[in-house]
Amino acid sequence: MTRAGGETHFGDQTVPLEEKQGLVDGVFHSVARRYDLMNDLMSGGLHRAWKDVLVTAVNPPKGGRPFTLLDLAGGTGDVAFRVADAGGAGTRVTVCDINAEMLGVGRARATESGRDDVVTFEQGNAEELPYPDRSFDCVTIAFGIRNVPRIERALAEALRVLKVGGRFLCLEFSSVDVPGLDKLYEFYSFNVIPAIGSTVTGDREAYQYLVESIRKFPKPKIFAQMIEAAGFRRVSFTQMTGGVVALHSGWKL
Ligand SMILES: C[S@@+](CC[C@H](N)C(=O)[O-])C[C@H]1O[C@@H](n2cnc3c(N)ncnc32)[C@H](O)[C@@H]1O
Repeated sequence: MTRAGGETHFGDQTVPLEEKQGLVDGVFHSVARRYDLMNDLMSGGLHRAWKDVLVTAVNPPKGGRPFTLLDLAGGTGDVAFRVADAGGAGTRVTVCDINAEMLGVGRARATESGRDDVVTFEQGNAEELPYPDRSFDCVTIAFGIRNVPRIERALAEALRVLKVGGRFLCLEFSSVDVPGLDKLYEFYSFNVIPAIGSTVTGDREAYQYLVESIRKFPKPKIFAQMIEAAGFRRVSFTQMTGGVVALHSGWKL
């Protein structure tokens, strides 16, 4: 049966497009409290190095010059805090995420570390951002875009809220094409990660979804074409760790 809204992937299932967001929200609701710990366990701490590369690309000014970053699907604020720490007194970061539990963990981190005035947490959907046109100097999204049901809408919104001359940066799992490493990665993803997820969060299915969603995400060249089709210019990507992740970049010119 063809549905008006179309269909998409939720892990290895095909689901009506309008149902995906609710399913994704359930996953992050379930894992929010252990999310940061799980990132360290699953990636052996590598996510920190990947995020460092993202922060270097964001390159917030060190001095007092005003610089505004929107970190989309920013969850518990990991990228936001790193950019805030790398930037100077003029740097301000807005984390926008659809999930209240993930935002709650982030807000508590901001309060505990005295960074409430630098990093703010706001609930919103990447497909329909609650910000005026040309609001931010930079827009980032780390490990978030593959969870968004209508990726084209999120890209269009990122472009809309960027100032002219601003940069869009997207860190996402990619596709490993190093012979040998691909098989190892596949084994690790489908066996080890759900097992760790089950032990630490009690939710094996959430981590099954996360690894399936990586497999379903477009290959980096295709995703780069999507970024270009959204209207970004000077689009490029860099793969890291044998293609486990890629950092995509585009400019609003
Ligand atoms: C894997 S987490 C990434 C969190 C953070 N960026 C990081 O790197 O640690 C994915 C995040 O995407 C958020 N998300 C999913 N769909 C979204 C949407 N439509 N709009 C905004 N955020 C969304 C989830 O709530 C979750 O916090």
